[in-house]
Amino acid sequence: MFDSAQLPKIVAMALILLAASPAAAEDGHRLWLRYDPVETPLRQRYAAHVSELVIDAHGPMANAAASELKRGLSGLLAQSIPARAQVDRDGAVIVALAGSPELRLLHLRTSGLGTEGYAIRSATLDGHTATVIAANSERGLLYGTFALLRRIQTHQSLVQLNLRDAPALSLRMLDHWDNLNGFVERGYAGKSLWDWGALPQHVDRRYSDYARANASIGVNGAVLNNVNASAQILTPAYLRKVKALADTFRPWGVRVYLSARFSAPIEIGGLKTADPLNLAVRRWWRAKADDIYRLIPDFGGFLIKANSEGQPGPQDYHRSHAEGANMLADALRPHGGVVLWRAFVYASSDKDRAKEAYDEFKPLDGEFARNVIVQVKNGPVDFQPREPFSPLFGAMPHTPLAMEVEITKEYLGFNTHLAYLGTMWEEVLKSRTARPNPASIVADSLSAMAGVANTGTDRNWSGSQFDQANWYAFGRLAWNPRASSRAIAEEWARMTWGNDPRLVATVVRMMMSSRQAVVDYMTPLGLAHQMGTGHHYGPAPWVDDQQRAEWNPVYYNRADSNGIGFDRTATGSNAVAQYAPPIAMRFANLRTVGDDYLLWFHHVPWDFPMPSGKPLWHELIARYDRGVATVDAMAQTWASLQAYVDPERFQDTADYLRIQGQEARWWRDASIAYWQSVSHLPLPAGVRPPEHALAYYKSLSFPEAPGQ
Ligand code: GCU
Repeated sequence: MFDSAQLPKIVAMALILLAASPAAAEDGHRLWLRYDPVETPLRQRYAAHVSELVIDAHGPMANAAASELKRGLSGLLAQSIPARAQVDRDGAVIVALAGSPELRLLHLRTSGLGTEGYAIRSATLDGHTATVIAANSERGLLYGTFALLRRIQTHQSLVQLNLRDAPALSLRMLDHWDNLNGFVERGYAGKSLWDWGALPQHVDRRYSDYARANASIGVNGAVLNNVNASAQILTPAYLRKVKALADTFRPWGVRVYLSARFSAPIEIGGLKTADPLNLAVRRWWRAKADDIYRLIPDFGGFLIKANSEGQPGPQDYHRSHAEGANMLADALRPHGGVVLWRAFVYASSDKDRAKEAYDEFKPLDGEFARNVIVQVKNGPVDFQPREPFSPLFGAMPHTPLAMEVEITKEYLGFNTHLAYLGTMWEEVLKSRTARPNPASIVADSLSAMAGVANTGTDRNWSGSQFDQANWYAFGRLAWNPRASSRAIAEEWARMTWGNDPRLVATVVRMMMSSRQAVVDYMTPLGLAHQMGTGHHYGPAPWVDDQQRAEWNPVYYNRADSNGIGFDRTATGSNAVAQYAPPIAMRFANLRTVGDDYLLWFHHVPWDFPMPSGKPLWHELIARYDRGVATVDAMAQTWASLQAYVDPERFQDTADYLRIQGQEARWWRDASIAYWQSVSHLPLPAGVRPPEHALAYYKSLSFPEAPGQ
């Protein structure tokens, strides 16, 4: 019989069960902002520091900070946290702008925090203990808020806090390669987040969730559309849609930028030319900028891909990149906007593709207007699993530079392969350029970082659970390019999967070895661009029939009966000479170049003795095997975590690791089969032969995805 006296107990039980098993499936939609209750007794310790909220700042971003604190703290502590006008008990969390009475009383100085930094300090106010988040701007408060929540999410102490942090780079942007038809170029997470058809009337809730996630990692700008741009985005109808997005992102500190098509004055302006020195063209862009700023007063600016892969640009009128960029910069300058001008250029020529960006842009150093930033891909070619850093970093001292990385894994197995890119970006950011000083590193040369976004309409946002880590790591590294990718992985793992020490250590171990595994099974020892042309997914080192030389994998591997690799020393293309002398010397010498860039810079005989003692041919095969073995080990390791992870996300990841295992073998087998067909060498004893003959791998064909 039902006993009504038991009712409160039953309700309490039901509530506990509900809290333990979220109603929605664990599909990863909450990203790293899960805010599930911390377990006791730790929760009680935190509760002593979090009893009420006192917000002494007003405005859209301060309000966003306040709502996030309420949401985060009440979730993590499993109790509602009241907002008060004044501190009236121990454990207040105070959010205050510079100049506020609380900060004056505490002598808490915000100088040195700039416009985006924050301080978090434990304090005593009116006889009560408190934690203060202080900043010079609402945006700083927002970042401080997420920093405090992150401490609790990652189980760090709230005792005697005295933290100060500010971003090293002022622009930290996501570049969306989203087309207006809803497809995302090189996008593997569903369709574009922006529903252009329904905007501006319907503003999807996801837009503010997206901006909030960016705010949590310090991303402060978003280029909404593809660099292969349609001029239509600049028409009044689309600008109204863009305004709706800008209005939604603003409280989260994310400014909107657009990719502009250089020939827009012709396509939508009715002009006969887009010559940057033509007065009517200049007037058109000025009027366009004025229109945009009337709608979006904090519009960030334009991103431009010009005279690159068939896009229009100033060279169509025999003008330089600087002349093109400066024309747009003039239009934006009165409003405080910037031009991000991409250095990703290569023409159909006999020149080594890896040399082209430097040769074209280095001579223009000093010629760009002050509000132009030249945006350089991390490596000299194109987002390969491993490339040396672009020689432009450090080589343009009079020009602000942005480093562009690709968060979406175009060349690293799309969304199914687990590859944590934090390690790759750390490797580039910390590479020594020796310019201007012997100890200078790439990070020293940067004013901005841009990441080609991996977001889409998939419930998990990024195409896989682990690909969320790359979005996360991008933001954290753009905030602090000297940060450790391991520390970032750990932070993300704790927030995303849980704080159990075994779980954290295991997930971090998997992540830290994952990108090297992809390098090993796709393009070991400095090889690059061996992916099938067009889709960039599977192996195709044999392809030599593309119309432009540099679209063919054989152009990059140069494998023949003597050896393999691209001679970029003085006996070859001499691309090494673009680096500062100490770096060039290291790369140019077979003995000092190191395994990572060996075949990037050298054509090496198959029998070349490697540091391991093996001849190159054997070492190459060993690397493919090592890559496959690492993926197998990741799958096994993941299986050991079943008890620690919810069934849905566990299964998603297990399935993808299985696919990755099969495809790592495919890469290994197809590549070895091809190399063997040119080296004519027997496989070393004990090595497993490729599963199929080369002809089989060559015969595979794949449909182009619509976004490519
Ligand atoms: C790569 C990619 C293209 C993209 C280009 C770019 O080549 O495959 O899809 O347009 O980079 O960065 O502009």
